[in-house]
Amino acid sequence: MPRLLLHCSRERATLKPWFDVQKKHPMLECMLTSKNFLPTVSQGTAPKMNEQTLHQFQDISALLNSSLDHGEIRQRAIEAATIIMDAEAGSLLLLDEVTGELYFDVAHGEKSAAVRQIRLGFGQGIAGHVARTGEPLIVNDAQGDSRFFRQADQASGFVTRNMVCVPVRAHGRFLGVLQAINRKHDRLFEDSDLQNFVALGHQVGIAIENANLYEEIHQLFEGFISASVQAIESRDPTTSGHSQRVASLTCRLAEIVNLVETGPYARILFNTDQIKEIRYAAVLHDFGKVGVREHILSKAEKLYPAQQEAVKARFDFIKRTLEADTLRRKLEIYETNRHENTQALFAQLDQQLGRQMHDVDDMFSFVLKCNQPTSRSHRATPQPLPQLERLREIADQEYRSFDGMRPYLTRPEVQALSTAEGSLTQEERRQIQQHVAHTFEFLSKIPWTKSLKNVPSIAWSHHEKLDGSGYPRGLKKDLIPIQARMMTICDIYDAMTAADRPYKSAISPSEALRYLAGQATEGKIDSALFDIFQKERVYEATLIRLSKIA
Ligand SMILES: [Fe+2]
Ligand SMILES: [Fe+2]
Repeated sequence: MPRLLLHCSRERATLKPWFDVQKKHPMLECMLTSKNFLPTVSQGTAPKMNEQTLHQFQDISALLNSSLDHGEIRQRAIEAATIIMDAEAGSLLLLDEVTGELYFDVAHGEKSAAVRQIRLGFGQGIAGHVARTGEPLIVNDAQGDSRFFRQADQASGFVTRNMVCVPVRAHGRFLGVLQAINRKHDRLFEDSDLQNFVALGHQVGIAIENANLYEEIHQLFEGFISASVQAIESRDPTTSGHSQRVASLTCRLAEIVNLVETGPYARILFNTDQIKEIRYAAVLHDFGKVGVREHILSKAEKLYPAQQEAVKARFDFIKRTLEADTLRRKLEIYETNRHENTQALFAQLDQQLGRQMHDVDDMFSFVLKCNQPTSRSHRATPQPLPQLERLREIADQEYRSFDGMRPYLTRPEVQALSTAEGSLTQEERRQIQQHVAHTFEFLSKIPWTKSLKNVPSIAWSHHEKLDGSGYPRGLKKDLIPIQARMMTICDIYDAMTAADRPYKSAISPSEALRYLAGQATEGKIDSALFDIFQKERVYEATLIRLSKIA
């Protein structure tokens, strides 16, 4: 008889009767006192479980409870059914809670698709009967039983001679029916076999329920993550999809690092939980942006739209004032020089006004030019000095307002227009950089499981640079987790190539890779990880842009 393989070792129990076992094993105790077990076997007549069966149960129990994966549990349940009952085949039918039907969840072989199509109404077939009554059932002449559902044999090509069916329940909730089919060696199923199968049905029910609970918690958390990302991106829609893309790139890079056999990361191997940890940290890395004021997040040019309107209105007012001054002067000339050649004087004034208007238009055009954000690719050439001088010259000009003389440009406007990179002033940049600290504060409040405990610290380090020039803590190489070093590369790449940032146009992948190569040469990002990112074309993971998280 085949043994199930176990990944755990344990000492063999000494041979004990079945009812001694229940005193020591809570799960078995639960099985033996369940309402389905008691009617079928009385304690006084119950046979003792032999050593081999006891060991099988121990193996099966350990195996079923060692996984929270639905597919694995179901597959193992069927294998266990055939072993415990010494049967040719087993099957597990699960309850579809929406339709109330039973369906075959696990089926193998070339006819598996046809078997999976089969659905039994509640009460239909022998399994349906067990579902309806809640009682285990042995049928030793399946073909002669009017309840037998022949289509299952027709679909599978299997010939059912006899079968034993037990309900699968957990916490009183019906989950499905477990079947063992065709006792080997032409034997029949006996009542004395039933207790083992009922016990197995309960174990399977508990294992499925555990997996259900785990799945529900997992879904709940995934839903929370999605909602959080949506919250970030609804405040800053221009970066829509960024978090998810960074997560895809970073996980891809981690998977490739796992395959690397040479270089400094040859011995690094991220397991499934660690990859999940990286994914959560990456998806939530910019969550702290919820703590940054929205107008700063979405600032597209050096002046805010309201500031631009104010400057435009001011320059219009200056031109109108020049016009009014000219007209007033003409009126004075007309009144004081009535008999002289006023036309020539008027022409002079018009020419002068034309020049002044042209100068003001020039200045306004220059302000508009300065208002455009400086792209990262032009970082090497910061705002040239003559440009700053010209800006100051304009700011020093004054016009006559109703309440006195005023500068053409205010101090905050000059400060914003003098920005050397991007569209943000130093103070605004400081506020944006605060998002990392906000992310850490937020993530630290989540009671992460042991396997995910590093999510906050990984996300906290995604703007650190190996040479200490990053933020918020200015960490250097060894203090920055490798997960964060990978994320930094992916974050920069996506931010540069994203077509939807308000303060810059998209940069081509090759240009972004060139920029990252420069950062690696300067010792700011991890050059070994960047080599993998580039050579293994990790960046292609998001060439087909992922859709925004719903
Ligand atoms: Fe960030
Ligand atoms: Fe980011």
